[in-house]
Amino acid sequence: MTDQKVIAVVGSTGQQGGGLARAILDDPAGGFKLRALTRNPGSEAAKALADRGADIVTADLDDQASLERAFDGAYGVYGVTNFWELFSVEREQAQAANIARASVEAKVHHVIWSTLEDTRLHIPLDDERMPTLMGSYKVPHYDGKGEADRFFAEAGAPTTYLAPSFYWETLFDMVQRGEDGVLAITLPMGNARLPGIAAKDIGLTAYRIFGRGDEFIGSRIGIAGEHLRVAEMAAILSGVLGEEVRYVNVPPSVFRTFGFPGADDVGNMFQFKHDFEDAYVGARDITLARSINPDLSTFEDWAVANKDRFKIRVVAELATV
Ligand SMILES: NC(=O)c1ccc[n+]([C@@H]2O[C@H](COP(=O)([O-])OP(=O)(O)OC[C@H]3O[C@@H](n4cnc5c(N)ncnc54)[C@H](OP(=O)(O)O)[C@@H]3O)[C@@H](O)[C@H]2O)c1
Repeated sequence: MTDQKVIAVVGSTGQQGGGLARAILDDPAGGFKLRALTRNPGSEAAKALADRGADIVTADLDDQASLERAFDGAYGVYGVTNFWELFSVEREQAQAANIARASVEAKVHHVIWSTLEDTRLHIPLDDERMPTLMGSYKVPHYDGKGEADRFFAEAGAPTTYLAPSFYWETLFDMVQRGEDGVLAITLPMGNARLPGIAAKDIGLTAYRIFGRGDEFIGSRIGIAGEHLRVAEMAAILSGVLGEEVRYVNVPPSVFRTFGFPGADDVGNMFQFKHDFEDAYVGARDITLARSINPDLSTFEDWAVANKDRFKIRVVAELATV
């Protein structure tokens, strides 16, 4: 079809962009055509998209000119950055600015920017409830994205600001068998609700937003499949996995010491979600998300479909917390 609108998807080989890429490919009559951006067209993920007929374009978020070429002639752009590859707010923001400026240079009609809250608007740096990290952030992988929103506004990019929530896929690593033999999810969430989503649904919802034309340009849309408490997720997983999954609640100060890269950032993130529960949950309206994407998975449906992907192993130190 010649009148199909091209969507240039940053992160097409990853979770968010991959969900959007597959949503476009799964709906050939939907009016959109996929242009999949990657640094590595030879990767298995890129080849899988190419095998399904995607146009694969090499581009690097660190290189604005490569993005301008990749966005040329596109109707839409999905922009996502990967803090966890960078561990640098400055680089993540430079990449966001490149997406914003390249979209304007390429005269893209609609950009969806995958953002998150700037938590410092809720908890200022001098608030000692949680440590300040990397000099001037509370939750670096959130604050940098939230602060980068202004690059899109300043560049004049026609942007929908999409704020996802906790990927339930994170639980594949998080459900671990303690020394007592019982499966556990260890998180510092108390009894607060934790908005969550199946990762594929982020891209599918973005696809539906593109399908709604200009309706959400200039808006901020938070999305979640459900707002479950961790104890509720543990109970559902117990049924799906066929054995007890316990919720082990730890203080954020303990979680921050867990030792994996970025544990302090992630610990602050969960503390933010707990301490500012109403604001964080309120920014992710399930009714709105479902009105855009009625196919959003529930946690239970997602768990049943993915139960074989849990990588359960013994982690002694978690059992002793
Ligand atoms: N995990 C969660 O619960 C959660 C929740 C909300 C938000 N997030 C945010 O999600 C972001 C990561 O998104 P994701 O989960 O979709 O990532 P992912 O699955 O790890 O994939 C990263 C994608 O980004 C692309 N990419 C990375 N650096 C690039 C560069 N310099 N130039 C071009 N492409 C680049 C990669 O493409 P190639 O390697 O093919 O080039 C890949 O497709 C993070 O910033 C995180 O803060 C995560």
